[in-house]
Amino acid sequence: MGTVGTGHLDTGQARSLMEAAVVRYGGEPVGTIACTDPDAATLNYDQVFVRDFVPVALYYLAEGEPAMVRHFLERTRELQARQRSMDCYRPGAGLIPASFKVAEDGRSLIPDFGGHAIGRVAAVDASLWWLYLLRAYTRATGDRELAATPAFQEAIRGILELCLISRFDMYPTLLVPDGSFMVDRRLGVYGYPLEVQALFFMALRAADELLGDGPDSRPYREAVADRLGKLGHYVRTYYWLDFPTLNRMYRYSTEEYGDNAVNAFNVVPDSIPAWLLEWLPDPGGYLAGNLGPSRMDSRFFTQGNLLAVLSGLAGGSQARSILTLIEARAGDLIGEMAMKLCYPALEGQDWRTVTGSDPKNVPWSYHNGGNWPVFLWLLAAAEQLRGATALTAPALAAAAERLPGREWPEYFDGRRGQLVGKQARRFQTWTVAGVLLADRLLADPSSLDWIAFADDIAGEQCAI
Ligand code: GLC
Repeated sequence: MGTVGTGHLDTGQARSLMEAAVVRYGGEPVGTIACTDPDAATLNYDQVFVRDFVPVALYYLAEGEPAMVRHFLERTRELQARQRSMDCYRPGAGLIPASFKVAEDGRSLIPDFGGHAIGRVAAVDASLWWLYLLRAYTRATGDRELAATPAFQEAIRGILELCLISRFDMYPTLLVPDGSFMVDRRLGVYGYPLEVQALFFMALRAADELLGDGPDSRPYREAVADRLGKLGHYVRTYYWLDFPTLNRMYRYSTEEYGDNAVNAFNVVPDSIPAWLLEWLPDPGGYLAGNLGPSRMDSRFFTQGNLLAVLSGLAGGSQARSILTLIEARAGDLIGEMAMKLCYPALEGQDWRTVTGSDPKNVPWSYHNGGNWPVFLWLLAAAEQLRGATALTAPALAAAAERLPGREWPEYFDGRRGQLVGKQARRFQTWTVAGVLLADRLLADPSSLDWIAFADDIAGEQCAI
């Protein structure tokens, strides 16, 4: 098989598990189902989720086996919503489905744009991940033709139109409902969650590389370049949390109007949570989980911060500070199973109000402070970009030792991630893929050329 790895992981076993999840359509592999746990058959885990497929795709690309990734991109492009419609029950033109499955008669693919998801939320992240994956495929294989076809160029423009044209607000960030990404249920991640903004930035950078040179593309290229500058500056400036910014926030005036307002979002100093003063290391910093009118959600969200490192959104010193913080708070964020989805968990009245008393998202479980091994690939990539492995190597060794015996759960529970998640599926495909990919990245970081983005995007001043 020629699989590259560090030797910590039984890669043969992990690869067979991943291969058992491969879905075929018309005789071709087109993706992987979310998990192969026989007890989970009745839930929607039999779907190919776009987000879940990302680490699988990156792994196969790194192994020099791009066929399934190409079929996946072709089939999901066909499923993309294309019709402009004013019918509220139809997906917006440009939207890539959150997931799809093969119809029972095997003759068609059935997309789900969120109509079957918990809470009926449309996934915002799928379209953004799709652009990222198309760029990864293009760079990893050197096949520029697929993205250059008129059909793919139209698909790219469709996603850009969806993100850039119709909107109510006037921020560079994307406004989304609660639960519209990996956190696909209510968790107070509505508005401008970091993970969506980091994915948006990454997707724009991908589009910048993929759009053609012709006159049809020119307005899109210009809009992408403009938005990248504004979005980058905005997130780096206003989401950033470290001791110097916290000190400024602590002494903020409120009720300021106009261009000279220092406290632009009218964040009231009393809203700074007590845990943050104890927890924030110095040195070290991170991008806050969310930002909106009179609201800074200072929870640490792992995926958003690591994607910010990978995409160059958190360039240079901010990227270093994020890794410094993860190292300083490794007991909380990595614990016994890398890594926490967010920190800290919502508890008590906050849990009741913000999650709607969600029994799956009780404190330190699932999205609400649970530990997800899939993040290992992001940790490995972010750390390797700085030429380091000190955090990932022991975390990966621990995961490689514990996961096979515990049947590759979707997530772990507890403050340190010591328990298999209460409702976690077994044999979760992105758990397997995330760990395989991390292992591969540690052994051979050369694929970072197309997994990550060069850290060269300058922020631009923007008025908010
Ligand atoms: C859960 C996760 C979601 C994932 C899906 C399939 O709903 O919250 O992020 O895509 O399972 O694994």
